Amino acid sequence: MPSPVDIQTSAPEMRGLFTRVSGGYDRLNRAMSLGLDVLWRRRALVRLARVASSPRCILDLATGTADFAIAAARLFPSACVKGVDLTPAMLEIGRHKVSYAGLDGRIELEEGDACVLGCGNASADAALCAFGFRNFPDRAAALREVARVLAPGGHLLVLELFRPRSRCLGALTSLWMKCVAFLFAGGVRGDYGYLRTSIEGMCSADEFVRMAAETGFSCCERFFYLPACSCLLFRKNMIQ
Ligand SMILES: C[S@@+](CC[C@H](N)C(=O)[O-])C[C@H]1O[C@@H](n2cnc3c(N)ncnc32)[C@H](O)[C@@H]1O
Repeated sequence: MPSPVDIQTSAPEMRGLFTRVSGGYDRLNRAMSLGLDVLWRRRALVRLARVASSPRCILDLATGTADFAIAAARLFPSACVKGVDLTPAMLEIGRHKVSYAGLDGRIELEEGDACVLGCGNASADAALCAFGFRNFPDRAAALREVARVLAPGGHLLVLELFRPRSRCLGALTSLWMKCVAFLFAGGVRGDYGYLRTSIEGMCSADEFVRMAAETGFSCCERFFYLPACSCLLFRKNMIQ
């Protein structure tokens, strides 16, 4: 089910947008979440570690500047992490961070589309995606791809700013993002407008869980990190 926002945002436009924001992406992310995004990723991975103690191959979809990939490599010391993203400029920053963290040998970042993954069938033990799904042109296609590349019983961990249930919370989130973008985004304010409207155009967490169920995933855990982030942990069904 394509989202209303993504129908208008082609892959080259998406790549252009994230190329323009790439230089300030981490800084603005921290400002918008008041630093909580780092905590959300860590807490979500700890949840994953409880059900998947030693994954060997982890796939990070829409890895961006590799924050989730780096946190995963640190938490799972015997795992190799492959990060895939549409935007080379985001990956370039990610590669510097990976080298700085001394994780070159365990994290590989490559350009690719989450809806058409280049990985082999059942080649990953776990898949991650932080703040990526709302940018994908076809979320169901991305879920089908994750189901294809995950080994039976593998887990998918999703962190996302889904459309909030409460209109009031939605309006507050939108206002907050507008203010932070106004203060910190400088010349790329317009692009941050997209990030805000992409939340308004996103499905709810309930709708996403239903879509994942139709693609062969069972939702095993679900959390809400205040003020706006949902964490969904899925298990790929044994019989597809
Ligand atoms: C909001 S950023 C999230 C980055 C990172 N996961 C994080 O936690 O900060 C969204 C990322 O999705 C990527 N993206 C958008 N569409 C994509 C697609 N179809 N396939 C792969 N990556 C995509 C963008 O290039 C961007 O880096």
